[in-house]
Amino acid sequence: MSPKTIQPQDGILVVQNLYKTYDQRVVLNHLSLAIEKGKTTVVIGPSGCGKTVFMKHLIVLERPTDGQVYFQGRRIDDLDERELAQIRTHFGFCFQGSALFDSLTVYENIIFPIEQHVRVIDYKQLSELVKHKLAMVGMDGYQNQYPASLSGGQKKRVALARAIALNPEVILYDEPTTGLDPIMSDIINELILKLQKELKVTSMVVTHDMKSAYKIADRIIMLHKGRIIADGGPDHIRTHPNDIVQQFIHGKVGEAELAALRLGGTRFETQFLPEDFK
Ligand SMILES: Nc1ncnc2c1ncn2[C@@H]1O[C@H](COP(=O)(O)OP(=O)(O)OP(=O)(O)O)[C@@H](O)[C@H]1O
Ligand SMILES: [Mg+2]
Repeated sequence: MSPKTIQPQDGILVVQNLYKTYDQRVVLNHLSLAIEKGKTTVVIGPSGCGKTVFMKHLIVLERPTDGQVYFQGRRIDDLDERELAQIRTHFGFCFQGSALFDSLTVYENIIFPIEQHVRVIDYKQLSELVKHKLAMVGMDGYQNQYPASLSGGQKKRVALARAIALNPEVILYDEPTTGLDPIMSDIINELILKLQKELKVTSMVVTHDMKSAYKIADRIIMLHKGRIIADGGPDHIRTHPNDIVQQFIHGKVGEAELAALRLGGTRFETQFLPEDFK
């Protein structure tokens, strides 16, 4: 599909010709995409291909070098921070290495976004709400603990509970199951499905976990070198003719990478971001 055919009204979230460079290195290369309301869209692709950067553009935590982002037909990438704060109340987001506030308890972490947007008057009701959200991710009872005393997977689940605290219309999940055991991963998958079914939430999920992708996705998008190289339902991706897609979904190393490894591995840059160590 030609990028020009996508219009701002074509989905709840639309990006047009999204282009992002860091120090002249192209990370997103003219992406155009319309995300359908009420569906779960999964973004896959090799490490460093721009999945997190892409997701951050959807709520303008990053500004495009070029191109536009629309939410409910309204352009948002050029809004100021005050207007963006209002737009973001429609979103729940749970980003990679997702920072809980270390100085706040689990309970305080969860009410944080609520108190930012709503004048709380009924603290008993608030406490019930926190209990309910924590129970959804299997973390009820941890209200008074500090993040430092939680495992990586537990922190992730608390961050998820926080993301759904305000009953958002759109939820962005960046690797929600990474670091979780298989059962907890499946609970998170079920939670994503439940939120979609019961609350008609629109979800965008970045994952490396193909089992999870096939289970939750209405649509899977694969990014590679800043472009979309595959886009369709789980069956479309499973049987996709592109070798790069097949290698990725089966976790196989490509010939080019193998050759580079044999040569001593200088061809492919390895990059770490500070959040990779969180
Ligand atoms: N703030 C930034 N400044 C400079 N470069 C950045 C910045 N954020 C991301 N990048 C670069 O953009 C590229 C894409 O990063 P991104 O975090 O989106 O990858 P990813 O697909 O999410 O990878 P992973 O699967 O490992 O999380 C990387 O090469 C990264 O180094
Ligand atoms: Mg990432």
